[in-house]
This record gives sequence, structure tokens and C-alpha cells, in this order.
Amino acid sequence: MSFFNFFRVLNRKARRSLSGRVKQQSRMSSVSSSSQDVSFTSSTSSSKYRYDGGRRYHGDEKVAYLLPNDNEEDDRMHQQHWLVALAFGSHFDSPVQAELEAGTNVLDSACGPATWAMQMAKAYPNSKVYGTDISERFPDSIKPSNCEFLVHNIVENPPFPNDYFGFIHQRFLLLGIAKKDWPQILAHHLRTLKPGGWIELTELSYAKLVNAGPKAQLTFDTAITVMNKGGMDIDLANNLEPMLKDAGFVNVQTRSFDMPMNHGGKVGELFWDDFQQGYHSARPIWAKIHPDIAAPGTFEKYIEETGEECKQYQTCVPFTRAFAQKPPLA
Ligand SMILES: C[S@@+](CC[C@H](N)C(=O)[O-])C[C@H]1O[C@@H](n2cnc3c(N)ncnc32)[C@H](O)[C@@H]1O
Repeated sequence: MSFFNFFRVLNRKARRSLSGRVKQQSRMSSVSSSSQDVSFTSSTSSSKYRYDGGRRYHGDEKVAYLLPNDNEEDDRMHQQHWLVALAFGSHFDSPVQAELEAGTNVLDSACGPATWAMQMAKAYPNSKVYGTDISERFPDSIKPSNCEFLVHNIVENPPFPNDYFGFIHQRFLLLGIAKKDWPQILAHHLRTLKPGGWIELTELSYAKLVNAGPKAQLTFDTAITVMNKGGMDIDLANNLEPMLKDAGFVNVQTRSFDMPMNHGGKVGELFWDDFQQGYHSARPIWAKIHPDIAAPGTFEKYIEETGEECKQYQTCVPFTRAFAQKPPLA
């Protein structure tokens, strides 16, 4: 069984164990770490859901996130994890390998179903990996023993001490965070990172597609309409560097990759598969903006034609990894 399928099975088992239990408004979790013993309290309720077009969403009005948090979306997240690893050729760019091997505290902020967090926990058994997310979509029992998860809204102050993490990882919040909230989130990360610790953010841009045909452009314009309403940054990938500098991080570096849609071999194939699933996750949005296209039968045809168009135009979506350091002590 591939590693990807192994985690799909684990995650399904974990979800089954979750669904049979009454979830608490907030959960206390006692944590032992290599550096200190700390107690953390999950800060946000996970029990609020809303349903639209047969999909389940986070129901908290304070949370801007646009995509579902159901099993189908979790499967898409797992696959996207492997797509990104294949495209970038690694799970991270920050120079933290030696520290991870020796043992440090790692945060996967907005970890989703936690594929990255569990992969890192397994690869670096001396390190302790924490995952936080607004939805309790991570496994609570079937997981590496050096992995801990908490329900938390990352806009709010996280329940971690100052200077706690050696490495903070966060990705794909383009459709989740309003532009005005980014400085606050980065201030929390700066506070909880150790001096000299590294932060790494991966995002994509909806603002500047490469070689877009009319159907792909309409797809991104539809997303942009909703993102503008939520005050989100449609060019987030290209704004990571200035945002990190403004927040007080140093040694800011970036690496970009134009992700091919439905061309260019395995990466293009996987990304198109991810994108098609994304279409279905976003169908309730389409139903509001373009009800004609979202109609059953028409929507599937539209997706198929967009795939062909992307192949013909060689369309790509720009992704960027940005990594930076909390200023080391003098
Ligand atoms: C696109 S998913 C990416 C998940 C994960 N980072 C990955 O790469 O697989 C975005 C995640 O951010 C979470 N999220 C959105 N807004 C959030 C918030 N304000 N606080 C915490 N998590 C949030 C969502 O629940 C979702 O799991």
C-alpha cells in the first residue's frame, strides 16, 4: 500500500472513531515535549457546521474559509500534499533538517487532515509536531505518538508559549484568510517561534494565471468574485515575501513553481485531478454566481472542456514557497 493510501485508510478509521463520539466544545490536551511540559486548550468549537449543496462546511461566521471540511475534501487535501511534494521536490525548503533530526517543536498551522504533520512526525521521531485547524478534521487517536492536534482559529492568539517552535509550516490559506488578518497571524507566528527559528508558507496566486484560455479565466474570475467579497488577497503567493518582511522576519527567500494544468506529465495530471475535485468542492459557489454552468450535466461538461482548453493553452497556476527566519539573538 502506498504511503498516500496508508494515510487515507488511517484517516478514514480515525473519522469513524470521531463520528461515534460526542465532541466537546473545547478539549484540554496535556502535552509533553522534548523542551518543556505544557498544557494547551483547544480554543474554538468544532461542532458548528453548515451544509450547502450536499457538502459540509465550517459554520462559524467569524471564519472566512470558503471550501468544505468533509471527507471528500480531506481526500483532496491528502492528494494535494503529494502533488506539492512532487512539484517542489521536497516537503520543505527551510534549512531545518539538522534541528528536526536532533528534535524540536514543529507547528503545522491550519493543518487540515494533517498529511504533512504526520509525514513529518514519522520522518523526525525526535521532534514533536503540532497541528492546528479550525475544523477537527485531523485524526485524534490513530497518529504518530509525537503528533498532537488542536482545534484553533489561527487569527486568534495561539495557546503556545513564546519562543516555542523551531519550525512553523503553513500552506493554502488563500481561500481562508482575509487580507486584514494576515499581519495578526504572522505576529502570532513570530511570537511563538524561537529566535533563529524558521517559518515556511506555501500559497498560490489567482491573480496572474499563465497562458489562461477563456474557460480557465472564467473559473478563476468566479473564485476572485467570492474572494473579493471576503476581503481575501487574490495575489497572495506574490505577496508572501513583503508580508514576512513587514512582520519582522529576516532572511526571506522564495521559490516559485508554475503548476501545469492537465499537461506536462505526472504533476500536470495530478494537479488537474486536484483541480477537478476542487471544482466539485466549489460547486455551491458556482451555483450562486453561474447557475447555468453549475447545472447537473452542464457542470461536468464545462470541467471537461476546461481540462482540454488548459492542455491546448498550456495553462499554469503560480505557486510560491516563502521561508524566513525569526531574527536570531545577537
Ligand atoms: C486548503 S486547506 C490546507 C490544509 C493543509 N495546510 C494542507 O496543506 O493539507 C486549508 C485549511 O485551513 C483551515 N482553516 C481555514 N481558516 C482557518 C482559520 N481561521 N484557523 C484555522 N484553520 C483554518 C481549513 O479548515 C482547512 O483545513
